[in-house]
Amino acid sequence: MAFNPESFIPEAVEEIKSKVGNRKAVIAVSGGVDSMVAAALAAKAVPDQLTAIFVDTGFMRKNEAVQVKKAAETAGIPLQIVDESERFFGKLEGIAEPEQKRKIIGELFIRVFEEHAKEVGAEMLIQGTIAPDWIESGGAGRDTIKSHHNVGGLPEEMGLGLCEPLRELYKHEVRMVGKELGLPRAVFERQPFPGPGLAVRVVGEITREKLEIVREACAIVEEEIGVAVAKEMMERPWQYFAAVLPSKTVGVAGDERIYRHTVVVRAVRSLDGMTANFSKIPPEVLSAMSTRITNSINGAGRVLYDITNKPPSTVEME
Ligand code: XMP
Repeated sequence: MAFNPESFIPEAVEEIKSKVGNRKAVIAVSGGVDSMVAAALAAKAVPDQLTAIFVDTGFMRKNEAVQVKKAAETAGIPLQIVDESERFFGKLEGIAEPEQKRKIIGELFIRVFEEHAKEVGAEMLIQGTIAPDWIESGGAGRDTIKSHHNVGGLPEEMGLGLCEPLRELYKHEVRMVGKELGLPRAVFERQPFPGPGLAVRVVGEITREKLEIVREACAIVEEEIGVAVAKEMMERPWQYFAAVLPSKTVGVAGDERIYRHTVVVRAVRSLDGMTANFSKIPPEVLSAMSTRITNSINGAGRVLYDITNKPPSTVEME
């Protein structure tokens, strides 16, 4: 049977009401469509018992905190922004292994929530976990492909009850619910962004320099694709971003040999993120991105385009 967002909404609101009861609840709003839709449902279900928090991990995209706050307010969700970036960065120093990075971020994320939940006296945690998150994290008897943020980092004893109203939904269904809820277009049409954020787009160990490179490169990729789509040069990919590889490569600037970071551009077509095909971006658009990245980002010396489908690769690099 086709998914019906109209009937899903009242059911989800009832589910949240009955799970939360008369307790106070916190929700982690990351800015992505999943958590924003979960927060909007929770704001409908238990408006006076809800605290919505945006944790700035330091791994967010350029200007993201401000944009998310604005979008949340339009959607009727009062949002608290807490800057925890130094804490996250400190915990990840020297860590290169992808699963370890994800686990550390996930765990700290929940800890931060526990702290804020305690402050407001909340006993319930509402999360925007969707079906691919738990399927790929080894749910339903499957092998772990990668620990998704929402599930992998969940400590056994988090001390809060859990409510996951979107658990059975796929991404396109979440978008349908967002649209039905009347959320701003920018929210439900927003491209997916991983829970651990830019941390998984710096392949290997994170440094402040690489983090800044990836933040700027992601912004350039988004802008250039936005322009190309507006000019009808290409369709908007399902997801598009940049990542930084762990090895530098040699280049030349004027008469000088340079040794700088390698940026990978990734753009895919997909329905739900479970499988994906790389987007066939026109060469002029790739060229514009490459020139801007190497001209305006000091530490970036080379730009590659990822031509792998999922499977065998995943959408993100880690
Ligand atoms: P992968 O890289 O697993 O990504 O092929 C599939 C989709 O999921 C996003 N992604 C995440 N989403 N928490 C999330 O909520 C996560 O930890 C996470 N990791 C990846 C990814 O951006 C893509 O859209």
